[in-house]
Amino acid sequence: KNDTYILGIETSCDETAAAIVKNGQEIVSNVVASQIDSHKRFGGVVPEIASRHHVEQMTVVLEQTFEQAGMDWDDVDAVAVTEGPGLVGALLVGVNAAKALAFARQKPLVGVHHIAGHIYANRFQSEFEFPLLALIVSGGHTELVLMHEHGSYELIGETRDDAAGEAYDKVARVLELPYPGGPQIDKLAAEGEESIAFPRAWLGEDSYDFSFSGLKSSVINTIHNAAQRGESFRKEDIAASFQASVVDVLTAKTWKAAQAYQARQVIVAGGVAANGGLRSALTAKFDGSGIPLLIPPLKLCTDNAAMIAAAGFVNYEHGKRSGWDLNANPSLPL
Ligand code: KG4
Ligand code: ZN
Repeated sequence: KNDTYILGIETSCDETAAAIVKNGQEIVSNVVASQIDSHKRFGGVVPEIASRHHVEQMTVVLEQTFEQAGMDWDDVDAVAVTEGPGLVGALLVGVNAAKALAFARQKPLVGVHHIAGHIYANRFQSEFEFPLLALIVSGGHTELVLMHEHGSYELIGETRDDAAGEAYDKVARVLELPYPGGPQIDKLAAEGEESIAFPRAWLGEDSYDFSFSGLKSSVINTIHNAAQRGESFRKEDIAASFQASVVDVLTAKTWKAAQAYQARQVIVAGGVAANGGLRSALTAKFDGSGIPLLIPPLKLCTDNAAMIAAAGFVNYEHGKRSGWDLNANPSLPL
């Protein structure tokens, strides 16, 4: 048989996910069990609860993945799993499930970096063209990464404080919106006006780094100061103004980096890639520029295991194998 089928497993945060992917480019099955409802009443992900849910869900999700694919273990060439970064207790569930299954079924085990996974969520719609520039925007990451070939990652910029998704979630808390706040703010922003001039952190002419904590503080101060004066803002307008600041900086720096590094393709990855404002601003900026822009469909922006299997395929093809001592690494470097 000439085709390669990778089973992917992802448990780095609050989604228990498994998927089977053909040749790194074709989704055969993709199952995601979200825990959002269990974390909602705490206003964020509770690590201990996440781990326990992963333990409960892992077997069910794996069974569904094989069932959806109409496949069994004989068809699988390797098991790929997110080894980091993420919540250590959550990662451990996936890593140990993958180790146990790979050992029992005598399949190669391949560790995958979660962010590499987010990047490879784009390979289901198009083959990569290098040099490739990736903007990664999730709950834990805001990074610009340059790729010269499959499986190689050069970090050219990153956040110095909060991640973009983290800023969304924190501002949403201040606006008393339910967790996760990103999609809520996105929705409100579409109905609001950009009436408040929040700051944009450019961090110097040549910097591809990001900073969102000043913006977050500015939003909080604006709301508090208005309250003290007995005034208030429409949540829609705060959301629209906050989102404009985030989107402006992300779009401008991505555009600048794409020119500077002569990117032949720009891709967007991570949960915040689901953001309507960001999607349309980037699309408008790159439209007609000659640089193709890829953004995954919404359900592949947030955490899933198809992306882990796709990135795992590249590792597998490059001969990368993990040992039975593979461990969860909450701060694994890319
Ligand atoms: O990639 P992801 O599912 O998990 C991490 O690896 O972090 O990203 C989750 C983050 C959360 O902060 C969530 O609020 C944000 O992505 N997010 C959004 C949107 N959908 C999800 N942020 C802005 N607009 C959205 N539509
Ligand atoms: Zn993620």
